[in-house]
Amino acid sequence: MTNLCLKMNQAAIIPVLMVIVFVQGQVPPFKETCVTNAYPPSEKSHLVPTYVLNLDLPPTQRWQNLAKDKGSQIKTLLKKFIEFAEDFGNGTVNTIINYLNKQGDSMDTTLPQPYADEMRGIATASGLGLGEVIIYNLFYEVFTVCTSIVAEDNAGKLFHARNLDFGLFLGWDIKNHTWEITEALRPMILNVDYQKGGKTVFKAVHYAGYIGILTAIKPGVFTLSMNERFDLNGGFIGIIEWILGLRSGQWMGFLTRDTLLYSNSYEEAKKNLTMTQMLAPAYFIVGGNSTGQGCVITRDRNKAVDVWNMADAGKWYILETNYDHWKSPLFIDDRRTPANRCMQNMTQNNVGWPGIFNVLSSKPVLNKLTTYTALMQVDAGTLETWLQYCPDPCWPF
Ligand SMILES: *[C@@H]1O[C@H](CO)[C@@H](O)[C@H](O)[C@H]1NC(C)=O
Ligand SMILES: *[C@@H]1O[C@H](CO)[C@@H](O)[C@H](O)[C@H]1NC(C)=O
Ligand SMILES: *[C@@H]1O[C@H](CO)[C@@H](O)[C@H](O)[C@H]1NC(C)=O
Ligand SMILES: *[C@@H]1O[C@H](CO)[C@@H](O)[C@H](O)[C@H]1NC(C)=O
Ligand SMILES: *[C@@H]1O[C@H](CO)[C@@H](O)[C@H](O)[C@H]1NC(C)=O
Repeated sequence: MTNLCLKMNQAAIIPVLMVIVFVQGQVPPFKETCVTNAYPPSEKSHLVPTYVLNLDLPPTQRWQNLAKDKGSQIKTLLKKFIEFAEDFGNGTVNTIINYLNKQGDSMDTTLPQPYADEMRGIATASGLGLGEVIIYNLFYEVFTVCTSIVAEDNAGKLFHARNLDFGLFLGWDIKNHTWEITEALRPMILNVDYQKGGKTVFKAVHYAGYIGILTAIKPGVFTLSMNERFDLNGGFIGIIEWILGLRSGQWMGFLTRDTLLYSNSYEEAKKNLTMTQMLAPAYFIVGGNSTGQGCVITRDRNKAVDVWNMADAGKWYILETNYDHWKSPLFIDDRRTPANRCMQNMTQNNVGWPGIFNVLSSKPVLNKLTTYTALMQVDAGTLETWLQYCPDPCWPF
Protein backbone atom coordinates (compact mmCIF):
# COMPACT_ATOMS: atom_id res chain seq x y z
CA MET A 1 0.00 0.00 0.00
CA THR A 2 1.07 3.54 -0.47
CA ASN A 3 2.67 4.79 2.70
CA LEU A 4 3.15 7.90 0.63
CA CYS A 5 -0.55 8.46 1.17
CA LEU A 6 0.01 8.08 4.88
CA LYS A 7 2.62 10.79 4.76
CA MET A 8 0.43 13.05 2.70
CA ASN A 9 -2.69 12.79 4.71
CA GLN A 10 -2.31 10.64 7.78
CA ALA A 11 -5.20 12.26 9.52
CA ALA A 12 -7.61 11.39 6.76
CA ILE A 13 -6.44 7.95 5.78
CA ILE A 14 -5.54 6.13 8.98
CA PRO A 15 -9.09 6.15 10.39
CA VAL A 16 -10.42 4.95 7.06
CA LEU A 17 -7.97 2.08 7.05
CA MET A 18 -8.74 1.26 10.68
CA VAL A 19 -12.44 1.03 9.90
CA ILE A 20 -11.78 -1.19 6.93
CA VAL A 21 -9.46 -3.43 8.92
CA PHE A 22 -12.08 -3.68 11.65
CA VAL A 23 -14.91 -4.42 9.23
CA GLN A 24 -12.81 -7.03 7.44
CA GLY A 25 -11.82 -8.54 10.78
CA GLN A 26 -8.23 -8.93 9.70
CA VAL A 27 -5.07 -7.82 11.39
CA PRO A 28 -1.47 -8.42 10.35
CA PRO A 29 0.59 -10.56 10.44
CA PHE A 30 -1.35 -12.76 8.07
CA LYS A 31 -1.95 -16.44 8.48
CA GLU A 32 -3.08 -17.00 4.90
CA THR A 33 -1.71 -20.07 3.23
CA CYS A 34 -0.17 -20.17 -0.18
CA VAL A 35 -2.76 -21.02 -2.82
CA THR A 36 -1.98 -24.03 -4.97
CA ASN A 37 -4.15 -24.13 -8.06
CA ALA A 38 -4.90 -20.61 -9.23
CA TYR A 39 -3.39 -21.07 -12.71
CA PRO A 40 -4.74 -20.84 -15.26
CA PRO A 41 -7.73 -18.82 -13.99
CA SER A 42 -11.00 -20.38 -15.06
CA GLU A 43 -12.32 -17.05 -16.37
CA LYS A 44 -10.71 -16.74 -19.78
CA SER A 45 -12.24 -13.27 -19.99
CA HIS A 46 -9.72 -12.14 -17.37
CA LEU A 47 -6.97 -12.38 -19.99
CA VAL A 48 -6.44 -8.83 -21.28
CA PRO A 49 -6.63 -7.87 -24.98
CA THR A 50 -3.68 -6.74 -27.10
CA TYR A 51 -3.34 -3.43 -28.95
CA VAL A 52 -0.77 -3.20 -31.74
CA LEU A 53 1.15 0.07 -31.66
CA ASN A 54 2.93 0.89 -34.89
CA LEU A 55 6.17 2.75 -34.14
CA ASP A 56 6.45 3.64 -37.83
CA LEU A 57 3.42 5.95 -37.55
CA PRO A 58 3.85 9.61 -36.57
CA PRO A 59 3.60 9.80 -32.75
CA THR A 60 0.33 11.77 -32.83
CA GLN A 61 -1.38 8.83 -34.58
CA ARG A 62 -0.01 5.89 -32.59
CA TRP A 63 -2.63 5.84 -29.84
CA GLN A 64 -5.49 7.32 -31.85
CA ASN A 65 -7.78 4.29 -32.03
CA LEU A 66 -7.30 3.38 -28.41
CA ALA A 67 -7.81 6.95 -27.19
CA LYS A 68 -11.04 7.19 -29.20
CA ASP A 69 -12.35 3.91 -27.75
CA LYS A 70 -11.34 4.64 -24.19
CA GLY A 71 -11.67 8.43 -24.19
CA SER A 72 -14.71 8.64 -21.94
CA GLN A 73 -13.23 6.15 -19.46
CA ILE A 74 -9.98 8.13 -19.38
CA LYS A 75 -12.02 11.24 -18.58
CA THR A 76 -13.88 9.49 -15.77
CA LEU A 77 -10.66 8.20 -14.24
CA LEU A 78 -8.92 11.54 -14.53
CA LYS A 79 -11.86 13.11 -12.70
CA LYS A 80 -11.41 10.61 -9.88
CA PHE A 81 -7.64 11.20 -9.75
CA ILE A 82 -8.24 14.93 -9.51
CA GLU A 83 -10.85 14.45 -6.78
CA PHE A 84 -8.27 12.47 -4.86
CA ALA A 85 -5.57 15.08 -5.35
CA GLU A 86 -7.90 17.95 -4.47
CA ASP A 87 -8.47 16.37 -1.07
CA PHE A 88 -4.88 17.43 -0.45
CA GLY A 89 -4.56 20.38 -2.78
CA ASN A 90 -7.77 22.47 -2.69
CA GLY A 91 -7.74 23.70 -6.25
CA THR A 92 -4.03 23.36 -6.93
CA VAL A 93 -4.38 20.50 -9.38
CA ASN A 94 -6.91 22.34 -11.50
CA THR A 95 -4.67 25.39 -11.45
CA ILE A 96 -1.77 23.24 -12.66
CA ILE A 97 -3.88 21.72 -15.41
CA ASN A 98 -4.92 25.16 -16.64
CA TYR A 99 -1.31 26.27 -16.53
CA LEU A 100 -0.14 23.24 -18.54
CA ASN A 101 -3.00 23.61 -21.01
CA LYS A 102 -2.00 27.22 -21.61
CA GLN A 103 1.64 26.30 -22.17
CA GLY A 104 0.45 24.18 -25.09
CA ASP A 105 3.00 24.06 -27.87
CA SER A 106 5.82 25.51 -25.83
CA MET A 107 5.83 22.18 -23.94
CA ASP A 108 7.59 20.69 -26.94
CA THR A 109 10.91 22.04 -25.87
CA THR A 110 10.66 20.48 -22.42
CA LEU A 111 8.56 17.34 -22.77
CA PRO A 112 10.70 14.80 -24.63
CA GLN A 113 9.69 13.50 -28.03
CA PRO A 114 8.02 11.33 -29.17
CA TYR A 115 6.08 11.48 -25.89
CA ALA A 116 4.91 15.09 -26.28
CA ASP A 117 3.34 14.26 -29.64
CA GLU A 118 1.89 10.97 -28.42
CA MET A 119 0.15 12.85 -25.59
CA ARG A 120 -1.03 15.48 -28.02
CA GLY A 121 -2.51 12.73 -30.19
CA ILE A 122 -4.28 11.21 -27.18
CA ALA A 123 -5.64 14.63 -26.21
CA THR A 124 -7.06 15.22 -29.68
CA ALA A 125 -8.58 11.74 -30.02
CA SER A 126 -10.10 11.67 -26.54
CA GLY A 127 -11.23 15.30 -26.41
CA LEU A 128 -9.06 16.18 -23.42
CA GLY A 129 -6.60 19.06 -23.07
CA LEU A 130 -2.86 18.38 -23.27
CA GLY A 131 -2.51 19.47 -19.63
CA GLU A 132 -5.10 16.92 -18.59
CA VAL A 133 -3.37 14.11 -20.47
CA ILE A 134 -0.07 15.10 -18.82
CA ILE A 135 -1.60 15.04 -15.34
CA TYR A 136 -3.31 11.71 -16.08
CA ASN A 137 0.10 10.32 -17.04
CA LEU A 138 1.88 11.81 -14.02
CA PHE A 139 -0.46 9.96 -11.66
CA TYR A 140 0.84 6.61 -12.86
CA GLU A 141 4.39 7.73 -12.30
CA VAL A 142 3.90 7.95 -8.54
CA PHE A 143 1.16 5.57 -7.43
CA THR A 144 2.11 2.06 -8.47
CA VAL A 145 2.29 -0.33 -5.56
CA CYS A 146 3.26 -3.85 -6.35
CA THR A 147 5.17 -7.10 -6.05
CA SER A 148 7.72 -8.17 -8.68
CA ILE A 149 9.57 -11.49 -8.91
CA VAL A 150 12.32 -12.81 -11.17
CA ALA A 151 12.87 -16.55 -10.77
CA GLU A 152 15.06 -19.13 -12.43
CA ASP A 153 14.13 -22.79 -12.94
CA ASN A 154 16.53 -25.73 -12.60
CA ALA A 155 17.52 -25.41 -16.24
CA GLY A 156 18.43 -21.71 -15.84
CA LYS A 157 15.33 -20.45 -17.66
CA LEU A 158 14.13 -17.08 -16.37
CA PHE A 159 10.59 -16.09 -15.46
CA HIS A 160 9.52 -12.59 -14.50
CA ALA A 161 6.14 -11.82 -12.99
CA ARG A 162 4.46 -8.97 -11.20
CA ASN A 163 1.28 -7.84 -9.49
CA LEU A 164 0.24 -4.28 -10.03
CA ASP A 165 -1.72 -2.81 -7.13
CA PHE A 166 -3.19 0.59 -7.82
CA GLY A 167 -6.12 2.28 -6.24
CA LEU A 168 -5.10 5.40 -4.33
CA PHE A 169 -7.36 4.39 -1.42
CA LEU A 170 -10.11 6.26 -3.12
CA GLY A 171 -13.71 5.37 -2.44
CA TRP A 172 -13.94 2.19 -0.40
CA ASP A 173 -17.24 0.56 -1.36
CA ILE A 174 -18.59 -0.76 1.92
CA LYS A 175 -21.11 -3.08 0.27
CA ASN A 176 -18.87 -4.52 -2.38
CA HIS A 177 -15.58 -4.38 -0.46
CA THR A 178 -13.79 -2.80 -3.40
CA TRP A 179 -11.82 0.33 -4.18
CA GLU A 180 -13.60 2.55 -6.66
CA ILE A 181 -10.47 3.44 -8.69
CA THR A 182 -9.14 -0.10 -8.73
CA GLU A 183 -12.46 -1.21 -10.19
CA ALA A 184 -12.39 1.58 -12.78
CA LEU A 185 -8.83 0.67 -13.79
CA ARG A 186 -9.32 -3.00 -14.64
CA PRO A 187 -11.21 -2.38 -17.91
CA MET A 188 -8.36 -0.03 -18.95
CA ILE A 189 -5.67 -2.72 -18.85
CA LEU A 190 -4.24 -4.04 -22.09
CA ASN A 191 -1.09 -5.47 -23.57
CA VAL A 192 0.57 -3.27 -26.16
CA ASP A 193 2.66 -4.89 -28.89
CA TYR A 194 5.16 -2.25 -30.07
CA GLN A 195 6.01 -3.02 -33.69
CA LYS A 196 8.41 -1.71 -36.31
CA GLY A 197 8.15 -2.89 -39.89
CA GLY A 198 5.38 -5.25 -38.75
CA LYS A 199 7.69 -6.97 -36.24
CA THR A 200 7.48 -6.90 -32.44
CA VAL A 201 10.23 -4.85 -30.80
CA PHE A 202 8.87 -5.15 -27.26
CA LYS A 203 5.59 -5.76 -25.44
CA ALA A 204 4.22 -3.94 -22.41
CA VAL A 205 1.20 -3.83 -20.12
CA HIS A 206 -0.57 -0.46 -20.11
CA TYR A 207 -3.46 1.35 -18.55
CA ALA A 208 -5.15 2.99 -21.56
CA GLY A 209 -3.99 6.58 -21.91
CA TYR A 210 -0.76 6.13 -19.93
CA ILE A 211 2.15 6.01 -22.37
CA GLY A 212 4.99 5.18 -19.99
CA ILE A 213 5.97 1.61 -19.17
CA LEU A 214 5.64 -0.21 -15.85
CA THR A 215 5.89 -3.83 -17.07
CA ALA A 216 7.50 -5.08 -20.28
CA ILE A 217 9.48 -7.67 -22.17
CA LYS A 218 11.98 -7.36 -25.00
CA PRO A 219 11.70 -10.89 -26.40
CA GLY A 220 14.92 -12.87 -26.19
CA VAL A 221 16.75 -10.03 -24.43
CA PHE A 222 15.35 -8.80 -21.10
CA THR A 223 12.23 -8.20 -18.99
CA LEU A 224 11.53 -5.32 -16.68
CA SER A 225 9.06 -4.04 -14.12
CA MET A 226 8.90 -0.94 -11.98
CA ASN A 227 7.68 -0.70 -8.39
CA GLU A 228 7.07 2.55 -6.57
CA ARG A 229 9.63 3.66 -4.00
CA PHE A 230 8.62 6.13 -1.32
CA ASP A 231 11.26 8.56 -0.30
CA LEU A 232 11.29 11.97 1.35
CA ASN A 233 12.98 13.49 -1.65
CA GLY A 234 10.18 11.81 -3.49
CA GLY A 235 8.14 11.90 -6.62
CA PHE A 236 6.19 14.97 -5.69
CA ILE A 237 9.20 17.21 -5.40
CA GLY A 238 10.47 16.05 -8.78
CA ILE A 239 7.08 16.53 -10.32
CA ILE A 240 6.60 19.98 -8.87
CA GLU A 241 10.03 20.94 -10.17
CA TRP A 242 9.11 19.56 -13.56
CA ILE A 243 5.87 21.56 -13.62
CA LEU A 244 7.79 24.67 -12.64
CA GLY A 245 10.09 24.17 -15.59
CA LEU A 246 13.16 22.48 -14.09
CA ARG A 247 13.28 19.64 -16.55
CA SER A 248 16.59 17.82 -16.28
CA GLY A 249 15.09 14.62 -14.86
CA GLN A 250 13.48 11.94 -16.99
CA TRP A 251 9.98 10.61 -16.43
CA MET A 252 10.28 7.10 -15.05
CA GLY A 253 7.88 5.67 -17.63
CA PHE A 254 9.79 7.25 -20.52
CA LEU A 255 13.12 6.00 -19.22
CA THR A 256 11.75 2.45 -19.19
CA ARG A 257 10.28 2.89 -22.69
CA ASP A 258 13.53 4.29 -24.07
CA THR A 259 15.44 1.47 -22.43
CA LEU A 260 13.19 -1.12 -24.07
CA LEU A 261 13.68 0.50 -27.45
CA TYR A 262 17.39 1.27 -27.30
CA SER A 263 19.00 -1.25 -24.95
CA ASN A 264 19.99 -4.49 -26.64
CA SER A 265 21.14 -6.54 -23.67
CA TYR A 266 20.40 -7.09 -20.00
CA GLU A 267 23.62 -5.30 -19.01
CA GLU A 268 22.85 -2.29 -21.16
CA ALA A 269 19.31 -2.02 -19.77
CA LYS A 270 20.63 -2.33 -16.25
CA LYS A 271 23.17 0.41 -16.83
CA ASN A 272 20.62 2.80 -18.31
CA LEU A 273 18.16 2.23 -15.49
CA THR A 274 20.94 2.74 -12.95
CA MET A 275 22.44 5.98 -14.27
CA THR A 276 19.70 8.19 -15.73
CA GLN A 277 18.41 11.07 -13.62
CA MET A 278 14.65 10.82 -12.96
CA LEU A 279 11.73 12.82 -11.55
CA ALA A 280 10.86 10.28 -8.88
CA PRO A 281 12.59 7.44 -7.03
CA ALA A 282 11.74 3.86 -8.04
CA TYR A 283 12.64 0.19 -7.94
CA PHE A 284 13.46 -1.38 -11.27
CA ILE A 285 13.34 -5.15 -11.41
CA VAL A 286 15.19 -6.50 -14.41
CA GLY A 287 15.52 -10.04 -15.71
CA GLY A 288 17.98 -11.09 -18.42
CA ASN A 289 18.12 -14.05 -20.78
CA SER A 290 20.74 -16.22 -19.07
CA THR A 291 21.29 -17.83 -15.71
CA GLY A 292 21.83 -15.50 -12.74
CA GLN A 293 20.54 -12.44 -14.58
CA GLY A 294 18.00 -10.89 -12.27
CA CYS A 295 18.33 -7.74 -10.17
CA VAL A 296 16.52 -5.09 -8.18
CA ILE A 297 17.79 -1.54 -8.77
CA THR A 298 16.92 0.81 -5.92
CA ARG A 299 16.80 4.32 -7.32
CA ASP A 300 16.77 7.79 -5.89
CA ARG A 301 16.18 10.60 -8.32
CA ASN A 302 19.80 10.92 -9.41
CA LYS A 303 21.10 7.39 -9.56
CA ALA A 304 21.00 3.91 -8.06
CA VAL A 305 21.56 3.72 -4.31
CA ASP A 306 21.78 -0.06 -4.50
CA VAL A 307 21.87 -2.84 -7.10
CA TRP A 308 20.89 -6.22 -5.69
CA ASN A 309 21.77 -9.13 -7.96
CA MET A 310 20.06 -12.49 -7.78
CA ALA A 311 23.48 -14.14 -8.08
CA ASP A 312 24.87 -12.13 -5.12
CA ALA A 313 21.77 -12.84 -3.05
CA GLY A 314 22.66 -16.53 -3.55
CA LYS A 315 19.10 -17.37 -4.47
CA TRP A 316 17.18 -18.76 -7.42
CA TYR A 317 14.80 -15.83 -7.31
CA ILE A 318 14.69 -12.17 -6.37
CA LEU A 319 11.61 -10.40 -5.06
CA GLU A 320 10.68 -6.77 -4.45
CA THR A 321 7.59 -5.03 -3.05
CA ASN A 322 7.79 -1.34 -2.08
CA TYR A 323 10.53 -1.25 0.57
CA ASP A 324 14.32 -1.18 0.39
CA HIS A 325 15.41 -4.82 0.59
CA TRP A 326 17.84 -4.10 3.45
CA LYS A 327 15.03 -2.60 5.60
CA SER A 328 11.87 -4.05 7.12
CA PRO A 329 8.57 -3.35 5.40
CA LEU A 330 5.94 -1.26 7.17
CA PHE A 331 4.22 -3.78 9.47
CA ILE A 332 0.70 -3.15 8.19
CA ASP A 333 1.96 -3.54 4.63
CA ASP A 334 4.12 -6.64 4.70
CA ARG A 335 3.61 -8.39 1.39
CA ARG A 336 7.29 -9.36 1.28
CA THR A 337 7.30 -11.98 4.06
CA PRO A 338 4.25 -13.90 2.73
CA ALA A 339 5.59 -13.74 -0.84
CA ASN A 340 8.97 -15.11 0.25
CA ARG A 341 7.28 -17.80 2.30
CA CYS A 342 5.22 -18.93 -0.69
CA MET A 343 8.25 -18.84 -3.02
CA GLN A 344 10.20 -21.02 -0.62
CA ASN A 345 7.25 -23.34 -0.20
CA MET A 346 7.01 -23.61 -3.98
CA THR A 347 10.74 -24.54 -4.34
CA GLN A 348 12.88 -24.12 -7.43
CA ASN A 349 11.56 -27.42 -8.83
CA ASN A 350 8.23 -25.75 -9.44
CA VAL A 351 9.37 -22.50 -11.06
CA GLY A 352 6.98 -21.88 -13.95
CA TRP A 353 3.69 -20.12 -14.55
CA PRO A 354 1.47 -22.20 -12.25
CA GLY A 355 3.88 -21.89 -9.31
CA ILE A 356 4.58 -18.18 -9.66
CA PHE A 357 0.97 -17.28 -10.43
CA ASN A 358 -0.01 -19.12 -7.24
CA VAL A 359 2.43 -17.02 -5.20
CA LEU A 360 1.05 -13.80 -6.69
CA SER A 361 -2.50 -15.01 -6.02
CA SER A 362 -1.85 -15.66 -2.32
CA LYS A 363 -3.11 -13.03 0.10
CA PRO A 364 -2.00 -10.41 1.00
CA VAL A 365 0.34 -10.42 -2.04
CA LEU A 366 -3.01 -10.43 -3.79
CA ASN A 367 -5.19 -7.75 -2.20
CA LYS A 368 -8.10 -5.43 -2.99
CA LEU A 369 -5.83 -2.97 -4.81
CA THR A 370 -4.46 -5.61 -7.19
CA THR A 371 -5.48 -4.89 -10.76
CA TYR A 372 -3.41 -7.44 -12.71
CA THR A 373 -0.79 -10.17 -12.66
CA ALA A 374 1.59 -10.20 -15.62
CA LEU A 375 3.73 -13.21 -16.55
CA MET A 376 6.77 -12.91 -18.82
CA GLN A 377 9.16 -15.53 -20.15
CA VAL A 378 12.06 -14.04 -22.00
CA ASP A 379 13.10 -16.89 -24.34
CA ALA A 380 9.56 -17.58 -25.52
CA GLY A 381 8.91 -13.84 -25.68
CA THR A 382 5.59 -14.28 -23.88
CA LEU A 383 3.61 -11.67 -22.02
CA GLU A 384 0.40 -12.91 -20.47
CA THR A 385 -1.67 -10.51 -18.36
CA TRP A 386 -4.55 -11.58 -16.13
CA LEU A 387 -6.99 -9.26 -14.41
CA GLN A 388 -6.99 -10.05 -10.72
CA TYR A 389 -9.84 -9.90 -8.22
CA CYS A 390 -9.45 -10.69 -4.56
CA PRO A 391 -12.51 -12.49 -3.20
CA ASP A 392 -13.54 -11.87 0.42
CA PRO A 393 -12.17 -12.18 2.96
CA CYS A 394 -9.33 -10.15 1.52
CA TRP A 395 -6.90 -7.58 2.86
CA PRO A 396 -7.81 -4.14 1.45
CA PHE A 397 -4.26 -3.17 0.41
C1 LIG B 1 3.27 -25.43 1.45
O1 LIG B 1 2.92 -26.33 0.45
C2 LIG B 1 2.27 -27.51 0.89
C3 LIG B 1 1.99 -28.38 -0.31
O2 LIG B 1 3.15 -28.54 -1.09
C4 LIG B 1 1.01 -27.15 1.64
O3 LIG B 1 0.40 -28.31 2.15
C5 LIG B 1 1.33 -26.17 2.75
O4 LIG B 1 0.16 -25.76 3.38
C6 LIG B 1 2.06 -24.98 2.22
N1 LIG B 1 2.45 -24.06 3.28
C7 LIG B 1 1.96 -22.84 3.37
C8 LIG B 1 2.51 -21.99 4.46
O5 LIG B 1 1.10 -22.43 2.64
C1 LIG C 1 -10.29 26.12 -0.54
O1 LIG C 1 -10.76 26.89 -1.63
C2 LIG C 1 -11.97 27.58 -1.36
C3 LIG C 1 -12.44 28.26 -2.62
O2 LIG C 1 -11.46 28.33 -3.60
C4 LIG C 1 -11.74 28.58 -0.21
O3 LIG C 1 -12.93 29.26 0.09
C5 LIG C 1 -11.27 27.82 1.01
O4 LIG C 1 -10.95 28.71 2.05
C6 LIG C 1 -10.04 26.98 0.69
N1 LIG C 1 -9.70 26.14 1.83
C7 LIG C 1 -8.47 26.04 2.32
C8 LIG C 1 -8.29 25.12 3.49
O5 LIG C 1 -7.51 26.63 1.84
C1 LIG D 1 -21.31 -3.62 -6.47
O1 LIG D 1 -21.08 -4.71 -7.34
C2 LIG D 1 -22.16 -5.04 -8.18
C3 LIG D 1 -21.82 -6.30 -8.93
O2 LIG D 1 -20.45 -6.38 -9.20
C4 LIG D 1 -22.47 -3.87 -9.09
O3 LIG D 1 -23.56 -4.18 -9.92
C5 LIG D 1 -22.77 -2.67 -8.26
O4 LIG D 1 -22.97 -1.53 -9.07
C6 LIG D 1 -21.65 -2.38 -7.28
N1 LIG D 1 -22.05 -1.32 -6.39
C7 LIG D 1 -21.43 -0.17 -6.36
C8 LIG D 1 -21.95 0.82 -5.37
O5 LIG D 1 -20.46 0.08 -7.07
C1 LIG E 1 18.69 5.37 -21.83
O1 LIG E 1 17.66 6.27 -21.40
C2 LIG E 1 17.74 7.55 -21.96
C3 LIG E 1 16.71 8.43 -21.26
O2 LIG E 1 15.40 7.97 -21.35
C4 LIG E 1 17.53 7.44 -23.44
O3 LIG E 1 17.65 8.72 -24.03
C5 LIG E 1 18.55 6.48 -24.04
O4 LIG E 1 18.27 6.29 -25.41
C6 LIG E 1 18.57 5.16 -23.33
N1 LIG E 1 19.68 4.37 -23.82
C7 LIG E 1 19.67 3.04 -23.86
C8 LIG E 1 20.89 2.39 -24.40
O5 LIG E 1 18.74 2.38 -23.47
C1 LIG F 1 21.02 -12.83 -24.66
O1 LIG F 1 21.10 -11.48 -25.13
C2 LIG F 1 22.33 -11.18 -25.75
C3 LIG F 1 22.32 -9.71 -26.07
O2 LIG F 1 21.23 -9.39 -26.87
C4 LIG F 1 22.53 -12.04 -26.98
O3 LIG F 1 23.77 -11.74 -27.58
C5 LIG F 1 22.50 -13.50 -26.57
O4 LIG F 1 22.54 -14.32 -27.70
C6 LIG F 1 21.22 -13.80 -25.79
N1 LIG F 1 21.32 -15.14 -25.22
C7 LIG F 1 20.35 -16.03 -25.30
C8 LIG F 1 20.58 -17.31 -24.62
O5 LIG F 1 19.28 -15.78 -25.88
